[in-house]
Amino acid sequence: MSVGIDRFAVYVPQYALRLGDLAVARGVPPEKLTEGLGVREMAIAAPCEDVVTLAATAGARLLRAAEVDPAEIGMLLVATETGVDHSKPVSIFVHDLLGIGPRCRVYELKHACYAGTAALMTAADWVRAAPGRARQALVIAADIARYEIGSPGEPTQGAGAVAMLVRPEPRAFVLGEQSGTYAGNVHDFWRPLDRREAIVDGKYSVACYLDALTGAFTDYRALERPALEPEEALSDRLARILYHTPFPKMATKAHRRLVELDWRATRARWAALEPRLEDEAAASYRALAASGLEAVARIGNTYTASLYLCLASLLEAEGRALAGRRLGLFSYGSGCCAEFFTGVVPPSVGAVADAGVGALLGGRTFVDVEAYERLIRAGDTGAAPPPGFAGDFVFTGVRDARRHYARPGVLAA
Ligand code: HMG
Repeated sequence: MSVGIDRFAVYVPQYALRLGDLAVARGVPPEKLTEGLGVREMAIAAPCEDVVTLAATAGARLLRAAEVDPAEIGMLLVATETGVDHSKPVSIFVHDLLGIGPRCRVYELKHACYAGTAALMTAADWVRAAPGRARQALVIAADIARYEIGSPGEPTQGAGAVAMLVRPEPRAFVLGEQSGTYAGNVHDFWRPLDRREAIVDGKYSVACYLDALTGAFTDYRALERPALEPEEALSDRLARILYHTPFPKMATKAHRRLVELDWRATRARWAALEPRLEDEAAASYRALAASGLEAVARIGNTYTASLYLCLASLLEAEGRALAGRRLGLFSYGSGCCAEFFTGVVPPSVGAVADAGVGALLGGRTFVDVEAYERLIRAGDTGAAPPPGFAGDFVFTGVRDARRHYARPGVLAA
């Protein structure tokens, strides 16, 4: 039985900042952000949004698009590092807002950005465990990435959610059954319980990411090795490779590392390629990795959702052309845990490829730096939704130590 993602739905807040404007305000050359980091715009959550409303809106869009009765969802997993309570999981608020029935396994997962992959793999295993029962799981990865205003991490913020329906005979992406993994305790990025913004050792985090990629990819390549010809690189078998993308330049660095590891493992071929490594790796990046980064460059880091935003937007843009082809995916979560895995785009993808990314990006409101700073400083105040608000749910504030949510139409009435 094949198992994987039957359909994606994305939700991104409607406010955005052009990072050229941020560069001017911070006195740095705009090219440092556009070329040095590869970022162009970043999404900013409205005061009526928090991670629950982002996740629930993505989930509601998915259930509508897939015409799935919420009562049929037997497992709901929400991956996030923007939790709203030390004990009560984001997932149970989402379960309530989506009207999913009581016969459902519901929980939140955390391991920095890796949790989206942890949730997807857990859901796939749950579906595989009952081959005769056509189980359906809803996996949602959602985050609001926040760093200190004026810090090097500031232009790598972002916000958004990706919902995925995981089931047998999926129409969008069939997961392979093998993964390469890597884990180790490092202090590259973390957010203590009393803080809203992450602490990050930026340059070290880039090195940790690349070390983890080396470990996970080497582990995966060893599993695949018996099937490869002696001079064949694993990347020769992949139509695209997608990476967890805190900013697009990170994927450029990652692809350069992966290509070197992959080609070094060939013998005679490596001797011929080594002198041309930089040029060949750049050409490979353009062919295999660059086109998956368009949405991330305009939305920013969405932490747990980042890799799946790349996958959903790639399939939306190029799904039909990729039908029958195999993709590689690398997931990294600071702290750290990482996984390299592959999957195949089935021929049915054309019918389910629209994840809503293009429409959302076309309908955004760009704010200036002053308004951005006001929004970031205020956070989720529960204020009224802005005109043209596209979310399905709003956060209305904390009363009696309880978080409250509503539909925007109910508030307007
Ligand atoms: P920075 O201070 O901007 O670094 O911080 P920089 O001064 O080295 O500049 C960045 C790049 O811009 C460099 O390119 C410069 O050469 C270039 P590189 O050498 O790296 O190829 N540059 C220019 N290019 C063109 N024109 C110019 C110019 N000037 C400089 N005029 C840093 C960068 C990534 C450290 C910072 O943004 C940061 O701390 N970000 C947050 C942490 C992060 O994203 N880490 C990534 C790996 S960890 C991860 O992915 C996990 C994470 O998602 C969290 C989770 O798991 O939950 C973060």
